[in-house]
Amino acid sequence: MRKSDKYIPALGREWLTPLYDPLIRWAMPEAKLKTRLVDQAQIEAGHHVLDLGCGTGTLAVLMKHMSPQSEVVGLDADAKILEIARWKADKARVSIAFDLGMAFELPYPDNAFDHVLSSFVLHHLTTENKARTFKEVYRILRPGGKLSVLDLGRPHGAYAVLISLILRRFEETLDNLQGRLADIIRNAGFLQVDESERYMSIFGVLSLHTARKP
Ligand SMILES: C[S@@+](CC[C@H](N)C(=O)[O-])C[C@H]1O[C@@H](n2cnc3c(N)ncnc32)[C@H](O)[C@@H]1O
Repeated sequence: MRKSDKYIPALGREWLTPLYDPLIRWAMPEAKLKTRLVDQAQIEAGHHVLDLGCGTGTLAVLMKHMSPQSEVVGLDADAKILEIARWKADKARVSIAFDLGMAFELPYPDNAFDHVLSSFVLHHLTTENKARTFKEVYRILRPGGKLSVLDLGRPHGAYAVLISLILRRFEETLDNLQGRLADIIRNAGFLQVDESERYMSIFGVLSLHTARKP
């Protein structure tokens, strides 16, 4: 990782990271959303799966529980949060490799993964780094491999529009809130790019984008 590459920690400030899991569990039906994210990916035995921006490892551990015969890897830019992820995987008695790295400079060879899943990470990346990230994801997916991204989406309805006026001031949420994720994914070369599901939450609309590498 280059020293100049900064990342936004899970809750914006490193000292808040220990609060991330309880806060997310309180703020949204995390288990239900992440179970749906894994379910729709249809991960098979032997598949190599990357949890991009894995944070505290909740999604990676869930993937390993739901598809025990898959090879799960989690990557995050924050060394401290990876310590929590490793602790959670140990506690759950599942074997997951957790790597330190940047989403837009992935430390993996071409065509290495069958699936890349990511939850609540893209709104931490600048527009340029979102584009770089999807190009990297494209590179490391095998032909036919699938991308599944759950993150903030374009608001629908009065509450979501209102909350988006607040959220747009934080982190790098604007591409998400203006519905630009699908185009950025498409521009990286992906086909079958689809905003396949939407959920309402305290943070407004959460969108699930799926796509395939041809
Ligand atoms: C809101 S948290 C989401 C964590 C986890 N995916 C989840 O669903 O709970 C965002 C995560 O993205 C990571 N992150 C931010 N920028 C990153 C980057 N450039 N490369 C890799 N990870 C990054 C943060 O360290 C943080 O763990």
